[in-house]
Amino acid sequence: MTSPVKLRVRGVSVSYPVDGQPREVLTPVDFECREGEFVCLLGPSGCGKSTLLNVIGGFLAPTRGQVLIDGQPVTRPDPRRIFVSQERGVFPWLTVEENIGFGLSDWPAAQREQRVEHYMTMVGLAGSARAYPSELSGGMKQRLELARALAVNPDMLLLDESFNALDAITRHTLRQELLRLWTAERKTILFVTHDLDEAVQLADRVLVMSARPGRIQRVIAIDLPHPRDIASLEYLQYRRQLLDELGLAHRI
Ligand SMILES: Nc1ncnc2c1ncn2[C@@H]1O[C@H](COP(=O)(O)OP(=O)(O)O)[C@@H](O)[C@H]1O
Ligand SMILES: [Mg+2]
Repeated sequence: MTSPVKLRVRGVSVSYPVDGQPREVLTPVDFECREGEFVCLLGPSGCGKSTLLNVIGGFLAPTRGQVLIDGQPVTRPDPRRIFVSQERGVFPWLTVEENIGFGLSDWPAAQREQRVEHYMTMVGLAGSARAYPSELSGGMKQRLELARALAVNPDMLLLDESFNALDAITRHTLRQELLRLWTAERKTILFVTHDLDEAVQLADRVLVMSARPGRIQRVIAIDLPHPRDIASLEYLQYRRQLLDELGLAHRI
């Protein structure tokens, strides 16, 4: 791929104080994402994936190193880069449709309504337009968060295990929808997951992270066109390569 570099992560490390002592959870991490690339960060629970995404999103200052987006150092969150987290949550005092339309307050009412409707339907929440988040299941809240993020058309999406709380079918639908959007709009997507299949299904490149302290252990380019045939030999070979990389046995 020859598009310009969108994101540069340079020597980023993070330590948290534990019992008064700094404990390193991320050792220097270096990588780049090109504009329009779909990159998955794959690694075991606790390896620092959310920490890294928080640094990239400007929510957490790294202990050392620097993140550059479009050549500019990241120092705080920016609405052009939308972060969809596991826990950050939606606004509890707004309804589903108000949540999705939140970032669109400058839009003419008719267009805003249309866009809200589009994304609400896309994530299967059209029947809950007037509901408040407290009335939604965890999975519905996560779909709402995704719809809200997509509605404002950010140029970069930072997704942190966003599909985890979803049932298998919804999860599959949203993966397809995300790929469709990505193909149509070519956003740069950084997608954190601990699900190997999710990574092989979605990514241009998978950055495999090691257990804590996290570092990038291997970068694997998934050179398969979309839609991917998850029963094909090539798919299974990539899957096996990632299993090996994560140190998981092939047989149980
Ligand atoms: N605020 C914090 N203070 C101390 N330790 C933290 C804090 N946040 C995360 N950690 C620790 O840092 C490590 C990485 O966490 P995290 O980035 O959430 O991993 P992942 O998202 O890969 O599961 C974990 O061991 C976690 O316990
Ligand atoms: Mg996490």
